Parts: sequence; structure tokens; C-alpha cells
Amino acid sequence: MIVCLCEGVSDRRVRETINTGAKDIKCIGDECGAGTGCGMCRPQLRRMLKEAANNGHHRPTSTQRADKSAR
Ligand code: FES
Repeated sequence: MIVCLCEGVSDRRVRETINTGAKDIKCIGDECGAGTGCGMCRPQLRRMLKEAANNGHHRPTSTQRADKSAR
């Protein structure tokens, strides 16, 4: 789903940006451009940052997921 219409950035791309270290809206904008236009998507970007922080920020890699399921 496209989160930022101005820059055509998807929620997936924003999550990747957050998972690789973007800690605020400016960092997200620097990395993928989301939020650098009209600003309408910034509340959504804030929610995604908060959600990532609540989930421990980084998603497990596919190897880590495989390790978990093997237990
Ligand atoms: S919709 Fe993201 S900056 Fe306009």
C-alpha cells in the first residue's frame, strides 16, 4: 500500500527504512523520500515509527525466523 502519495513510497519501503535504522521522520525522508512533500503522510509515518519501537524496532531476519520455527 502506498503511504506517501507525493513520493510514491509504500508502507513496506517505509518499514524497511525504519528497520535499517531510520529513527525519525527526517531520517525516513532522507532514505526513501516519504514525508518530504505535502506532509499528509507524516502522521502515518509517526505511527509506523511508534509501532516499530513497540515491536522492538528490528524484524528478525529470515534465518532467525527459521531458527525459531525449528525449536
Ligand atoms: S503524501 Fe507524503 S509528503 Fe505528501
